[in-house]
Amino acid sequence: MTSSPLENLAAQKAELLGLIDSLSTLDALREAEPGITGKRSILSALQKSLGSLPPDERAPAGALLQEARREVEAALERQREDLSRLARVASLETDRMDLGDVVVAALKVPLSAGHPGLITSTQRELEDVFVGMGFTVADGPEVESDWYNFEALNIPPAHPARGLWDTFYVDLGDPETVVLRTHTSPTQIHLMEEAVATNSLPIHSVMPGRCFRRDTPDASHLATFHQIEGLVVDRGITFADLAGVIETFTRAYFGAGIESRLRPGFFPFTEPSAEFEITCTICRGEGCRTCSWTGWLELGGSGMLDPAVLAAVGIDGDEWSGFAFGFGIDRCAQMRHQIGDMRALIDNDVRFLRQFS
Ligand code: PHE
Repeated sequence: MTSSPLENLAAQKAELLGLIDSLSTLDALREAEPGITGKRSILSALQKSLGSLPPDERAPAGALLQEARREVEAALERQREDLSRLARVASLETDRMDLGDVVVAALKVPLSAGHPGLITSTQRELEDVFVGMGFTVADGPEVESDWYNFEALNIPPAHPARGLWDTFYVDLGDPETVVLRTHTSPTQIHLMEEAVATNSLPIHSVMPGRCFRRDTPDASHLATFHQIEGLVVDRGITFADLAGVIETFTRAYFGAGIESRLRPGFFPFTEPSAEFEITCTICRGEGCRTCSWTGWLELGGSGMLDPAVLAAVGIDGDEWSGFAFGFGIDRCAQMRHQIGDMRALIDNDVRFLRQFS
């Protein structure tokens, strides 16, 4: 009996299936494919050899071989699908953004949380000093009517003192002219009106906030700036109380070696009035260019409430008296930190701002 060319078919098929199974990349599969199912493959060689079989054995042998080929081809296709799925997953892996790494990298960058600007921190410190002295902190509108900004403060229309507080007028037509407030003093009027309406005198308050003037910015002026106003209305208040509050504040905020003095001045809403000055923080009183060789720097204004102002809000000047003061918050920051040019406060240069974190 001649040996059949298919006598090793089972082992040969197993070998091909093993080979297919061992192919680990699509490239390797493509390379191996002709040797598995192509013209020069063992399967094709077996096909050709069937011709040597006796005619009656050819058909069953051919069917057997066909079956083996189908199995091998199916295994090859399955492997191709598996490998292409793996390749797709692999490319997703490489394309994937590793957020873990991004977060770690971000954490390595020092976090800068930011901090309040110098004007804000100065305002808070000033509020703290006054709260420590028994004052409350109040707020007022930045946009005022002419009456609050001027008239109730004893500055009638066309009064020359209006020139000191020239501002941005918004003329909405009569009856009321609207202005951006030029000082925090109109908040005094709101507070006193409210206290009268609610029968809640006395008042011991400070009122910080933003103010506006028609000023050309220079080293010591900004067209938008900040003031803090102080107002006391009580029984038996004298000029000595005003001087005491200003001196206590000066020592608390500016520290040892800096004193205050009150120099006669004029404000339409206080009588008597005084300029409020402190020891020059640059030369500490010796005399220098900044203080024009006087040893003193002007910080703000102050005085006893003018009877005309008390009358405007309906407070009985025989029963109540009081004082007010007001000074620049930006000016305070400038003097305390010896800032040459006030415009640095609003330039938003982080190299400057960072010094005050
Ligand atoms: N409002 C005045 C100004 O802006 C300052 C001041 C306040 C003066 C209170 C006296 C009393 O110049």
